[in-house]
This record gives sequence, structure tokens and C-alpha cells, in this order.
Amino acid sequence: MKRSYEVVALPGDGIGPEVLGAAMQVLESTATTFGFELRLSEHDVGWAAVRRCGSPLPAETLDACLRADAVLLGAVGHPDADEAPVDQRPETGLLELRSRLGCYVNLRPLKVAGPISHVSPLRRELVEGVDLVIVRELAGGLYYGRPRGLETVDGQRVAHDTLRYGESEIERVAEAAFRLAAGRRGRVISVDKANVLETSRLWRAVVGEVAARHPGVQCEHMYVDRVAMELVLRPAKLDVLLMENMFGDILSDSAAGIAGSLGLLPSASLGGRTPIFEPVHGSAPELAGLDLANPVGAILSAAMLLEHGLGEVDAARAVERAIDRTYRAGLRTFDIARPGERPVGPAAFAAAVAARIEVGAERATALARGGSL
Ligand code: IPM
Ligand code: MN
Repeated sequence: MKRSYEVVALPGDGIGPEVLGAAMQVLESTATTFGFELRLSEHDVGWAAVRRCGSPLPAETLDACLRADAVLLGAVGHPDADEAPVDQRPETGLLELRSRLGCYVNLRPLKVAGPISHVSPLRRELVEGVDLVIVRELAGGLYYGRPRGLETVDGQRVAHDTLRYGESEIERVAEAAFRLAAGRRGRVISVDKANVLETSRLWRAVVGEVAARHPGVQCEHMYVDRVAMELVLRPAKLDVLLMENMFGDILSDSAAGIAGSLGLLPSASLGGRTPIFEPVHGSAPELAGLDLANPVGAILSAAMLLEHGLGEVDAARAVERAIDRTYRAGLRTFDIARPGERPVGPAAFAAAVAARIEVGAERATALARGGSL
């Protein structure tokens, strides 16, 4: 029987619809080439959903996500929402979605691709061979901690948030990071601020316990400020970086800076009922509708969806190769194009990638296994 999957697309705001459309085009091309069926449905999230029905995560969107095999999301966020109450902010919809689906581990890989390694602001010898993954805890920490709020105390406004982690929350994400590292270069750096924060001291202790169960993986604990420096000084030395939610948000944008553009990085949010795949970048309202967005983060998120969400690993590799070939054919997105290079918009870039999806080496492997494609 033909393999068949249900994927929910959530375009969201700003450049979200453009990059998501690009990623869907590539996904559909892999379905044709690799012989599986995609059942796609599109739903509202973020500011687009607030405008249509008053909530950034409508019940029908959440229901569809709960039933699906995987969710592919564009971006959320809109300047008009800056003054909106918390329950009507686009970001609230995304945080609620992550939490309701139970996704607690967020993978943010950074590989500096050969044909565009010159886009990095770092010297070539520093970025050559960069291949790291940020493992960001996604379900706890400052993003969700209670109490939080704003009040007036002695005539002045005072705000507070709560940073709180239970050991089971730390343990499950650490376990995921060590398993991941075991299949890579076997090195975890656990990021914390244990010289100052109580939560970090617990984090360090629990990660140490998990590390003891993985003797084949080397574990080092490092303060977050030092890691911010190591990312710039020696990125090629880094393998798996494990950290709490807020540190992960901040350092993943730094990682994108190493690549040379925020538009290049994908992510996968796993461990819950349905996995979510989304580019690391935001809604970039200033670029929306201008055909200027970089769809590569979204297309690579689609590749992660194929691999981690659907188990279509060969198709995921085919997407990565197709992006590489598209670069080699000279196509560039606007954010990374140099003088003399040919910049194209998200739709044209995606069409070029989709046209380059090939079964390639996998066919030989499958035939050797006696299977069919
Ligand atoms: C990200 C984004 C989100 C986050 C925002 C949009 C809530 O910046 O995925 O990195 O902070 O997690
Ligand atoms: Mn972020």
C-alpha cells in the first residue's frame, strides 16, 4: 500500500505564507519522486488567526495539528499586534501550540554549506566544516514559568517572570541530546549559568546524571557567556549544544549569524504528540509580500519533517542535495546574493529546488536491498 501522511500547514504571518508555500512545493515534489502520498491541509495561526477569528490558536487549528503526522509552520508575529493583550498576541499562539502538542525538544542544526560558505561573516578557515546542533528545551523555563506579571509597586511599574525547571523536564531533553550526540561526533556541551542561577545548578547536576548513562558521549559543562564566544571563535569544534529555552532562543540566532543569514536555519520540535517543523527566523514584516524572503530555512524544515516526522530519510537527503545543486547552478536568495550573482524570490528558488529532487543514490541502495521505490 502507498505510504500516506497527513501534514498540517500553518503559514502564519509576514513572510510565513511565502516561505511555507516554497517548502510545500518541495515537499510535494519529494512525494511524487519517492512515491508517497501527502494529505495537506492549511490552517490559521498567529496574527492571521487573530484577525480572522479572534484567537492566535483557534480550536480547529489545534485539533487538526493533534490529528496530523506533522506540522509545518511559516512564522508568526506582526507589528500591529504589539499593543494587543497577551491572549491575542501571535507569539502566544505559537507557544500554546508547542505546549499543547507537548514538544519539549527543539533541534536547530547549523551546517555551513560548501557553495555558500563565503556568506559567513567569519573567515573561511573558521566556518569550514561547521556542523552543530542546538538542542533547545522548548516546554519550560522563562517562557512558561508562573507567576509572571506587571504591577505597580510604590508608584512605579514592576514586572516579573519566573525561571523554574523540574528535574524531569531537564532529564528528558538531556536524554534526547545525548542520544543525538551518540549518532554524531559524540560531544555534548551543556550550557548553563551555574555560577549564578539556582536553576542552572540543578540543570548541571541532572545533565551530569544523564551523562553518566552515556559513557560513549563526552560531556562538558560550559557557562552561556563563554558559549556565546565559542560560537564565534571556534564553531567547527562544536557538536551538540544542550540548553534551556531562553538560552536556546538567543544562541540559535547567533548560530544563524555564523551561517550569514537568519533565513537559512531550520528547526524541529519533537517529543510530543505531533512534531512541529519551522524555520528559526521570524515573520520579517518588512519583507512580506515583496518576493524577497529566503525560503531555505523553511525548505530545510521540510527536510527535517521528512526525516523526523515521516521517517522518509532518503527524501530528506534528496532535499538537501537539491538545495546544494541549486546553489551550484548559481541561484541565490536576496539576503545572500553578492554583486554579479542572480537573486531570485522564494517561489523561484523553491521551483529550482523542486526540479532537482532526484532519487539519486538511494535508488541504488534500495535496489541492492531488494526493495522498490
Ligand atoms: C523562535 C522565535 C519564537 C521563540 C518567538 C516567535 C515566540 O523567536 O522560534 O526562536 O522565542 O521561541
Ligand atoms: Mn528566536
